[in-house]
Amino acid sequence: MNTQKDQLERQNRKLSILYDIALTVGKSLELKEILDDVLEKVLAFMRAKSGVIYTIDYETLDMIPVTYRNLSDELVTDLTKNKVKLGECMCGNIAQFDREVVILKDASADPRFTRESARKEGMDFYAGLPIKAKDKVVGVLCVISHLPYDLDEDLLDVLRAATLPIGLSIENSLLFETARKEADTLKHKDFEGIVASSRKMLEVLALVRKIINVPSSILISGESGTGKELIARAVHFNSLRKGNPFLAINCSALPENLLESEMFGYVKGAFTGANTNKKGLIEAAEGGTLFLDELEAMSKALQVKLLRFMQDRTFYKVGDTKPVTVDVRIIAATNRELQEEVRAGRFREDLYYRLNVIRLDLPALRGRREDVPPLIKYFISKFNKKFCKSVKRASKEALYAAMNYEWPGNVRELENAIERAMVMAEAEELRLGDLPAEIAAASASGQDLSMDKVEKEHILKVLDIAGGSRKKAAVLLNLDTTTLWRKLKLYSDGKK
Ligand SMILES: Nc1ncnc2c1ncn2[C@@H]1O[C@H](COP(=O)(O)OP(=O)(O)OP(=O)(O)O)[C@@H](O)[C@H]1O
Ligand SMILES: [Mg+2]
Repeated sequence: MNTQKDQLERQNRKLSILYDIALTVGKSLELKEILDDVLEKVLAFMRAKSGVIYTIDYETLDMIPVTYRNLSDELVTDLTKNKVKLGECMCGNIAQFDREVVILKDASADPRFTRESARKEGMDFYAGLPIKAKDKVVGVLCVISHLPYDLDEDLLDVLRAATLPIGLSIENSLLFETARKEADTLKHKDFEGIVASSRKMLEVLALVRKIINVPSSILISGESGTGKELIARAVHFNSLRKGNPFLAINCSALPENLLESEMFGYVKGAFTGANTNKKGLIEAAEGGTLFLDELEAMSKALQVKLLRFMQDRTFYKVGDTKPVTVDVRIIAATNRELQEEVRAGRFREDLYYRLNVIRLDLPALRGRREDVPPLIKYFISKFNKKFCKSVKRASKEALYAAMNYEWPGNVRELENAIERAMVMAEAEELRLGDLPAEIAAASASGQDLSMDKVEKEHILKVLDIAGGSRKKAAVLLNLDTTTLWRKLKLYSDGKK
């Protein structure tokens, strides 16, 4: 009986430490803060005093001790001495060669501890675990004790499981750092008039920066109103082509023959009404950029002509036999999934592949809600100028509604909503009632605040933390697998 109780208690302790770690990982974006906290929890659980969590910089091949508690259980602040190279000392070995858990009793005697200080510490027990994210070693977790320590399989399992959320947070932080660095560089480049603070948009802008002066064509895809034309203009006006024209044409706005003559031009007598020679947009954009909006609407015959132009920069005016060669960069935009159009036989595969070389996917606004408040701020200041008003901000309620709304029309819809609200506004703040009714309806009253909703969100988040593994998620959630499966099934059937 007692042993059964003991076992349950142990099991409980195991699950609660993993749950604790999973929560810690989600709490902050500062890696050091997270790892300090995680290491403290792991050590308390193991009843060990000392430990280190390293991350790896694959550019410099440094193993960086992000957090370190020494044998007196103190958090060490000056970590510069503890840096080692990948492949060096025990942790470097684990990261580079073993990639598996290393457990040592009488650890100081092991020749892999090459650093003098490591030998001097008099370690009786050492556990080193690779921390992986998507199968790549991104760090090493070490637990050290100066007393003999008995690590059974159970505890080892917990340590192993703990490396999973740690790996995710290291990976997230690396991604975040990259985006932050790119964003800093971007500030100097100054994409005027583009508001972006979500990671998704910062990543798009980082890519934009890289491709600005690459000669290839670009395909921009995204729902209506996500900013495709804005990005196309930013590419042009930040590139070496900026002194030459940026011309735009919407492929769905004209019938095929008109679109052809508009794009490529025509010679006198080419068709009834062609009384003079006329330059097309491609020729007029010489040295600059031609933006083809709603490309999916272009007929297949015209697609052939466009592809030929993209391949050798040469085309024929309508009714002419003399080739014309111009240097124009093509940027195309679509709000459809072009690959689907190819599959359905409506879009040429060769043109698709030619365009798809550089592709920018603009995320829908509902998938990057962090951008909503800065966009609102930006539009308030824009319309203050236009309407000579001095609105300072959106009220909390209005902001809340805007954050909850789905924005099917994306940034354009938000811009229009703020413009309208600014016309209505009588105070320093935009109020909920100033917003269009459907947006105001997304405020708290229309919200689903039920426990079911909270539970669903939490379960899906933990599933994400567990890298999609239902088994691991069930352990973290302290649920048995069948219960979790049942719940997930209800979600996927749309019953909850
Ligand atoms: N990140 C942003 N920052 C500031 N303004 C933005 C941003 N994204 C879009 N906008 C504004 O939203 C409006 C719609 O953008 P744009 O016309 O570029 O969208 P689109 O994707 O081309 O839409 P459609 O598919 O309907 O043609 C524009 O007024 C644009 O300036
Ligand atoms: Mg557009």
